[in-house]
Amino acid sequence: MKKDPKDYIIFPLDLPDYDAAMPYVEKLASHVGLFKVGLELFISEGPPIIKAIQDTGPAEIFLDLKLHDIPATVQKAFSAASRHGVRFVTVHCDAGEEALRAAAKAGQGKTQILAVTVLTSLDTGALKNLGYEKNYTEDISRLVLLRAKMAKRAGCHGMVCSGRELAKIRGALGRDVVLVAPGIRPSWSIVDADDQKRIVTPENAIKAGADYLVIGRPIRNAPDPADAAKKVAEEIEKAITHAQK
Ligand code: C5P
Repeated sequence: MKKDPKDYIIFPLDLPDYDAAMPYVEKLASHVGLFKVGLELFISEGPPIIKAIQDTGPAEIFLDLKLHDIPATVQKAFSAASRHGVRFVTVHCDAGEEALRAAAKAGQGKTQILAVTVLTSLDTGALKNLGYEKNYTEDISRLVLLRAKMAKRAGCHGMVCSGRELAKIRGALGRDVVLVAPGIRPSWSIVDADDQKRIVTPENAIKAGADYLVIGRPIRNAPDPADAAKKVAEEIEKAITHAQK
């Protein structure tokens, strides 16, 4: 099926509950490809929030649970999540290759696994404190790449990675992995980088090989969120056309 420019956009519902999230679902369901439901919203509302988003349609769901446990538990949790008919579920690489493999085995229907390689909140000092070797603390992208390769080997469909690492991971893993990039800021955005340290524009992320862009605050805080999503889709369309030339 052909992917529309809007289908590249993942809007994170970083909101506390049903009442706060649903107005955005209603406004944006036809202007984005997926809604990302994270821990806050899922813990607060549970599976009914998934059903409410699906009933609004047509956008799909990315359940960002960052599963991190022993293989049997990750496998069962992934299997339970996939029964909700969501498109993506995240599993943390820190759980190890066997846990990723177990989740990959448990995949049902259309649900795909996205691996989280290294949290972008971890810097050199934090990784040193966690006991990582110098080789990885002095250049975190080496650790990201090591884990991205591990995730692919284990059968994951793709990974979440920062704009800065997109080209490197695409180059190393080829076309058949799904790359999802957060930290996207359109040049016209009225919000600044916020707490995102390594931002890129939608255009540059697409050119570097992203399949999906997580774009939250630039859309959520715009005077008209649906209009902001349309503008992002136009920028994506230009970048795709440019990449095909
Ligand atoms: O566009 P905005 O900065 O508002 O997007 C924030 C969303 O992106 C959050 O849901 C957050 O979990 C997600 N994210 C991130 N940085 C990462 C991975 C995911 O901000 N490295």
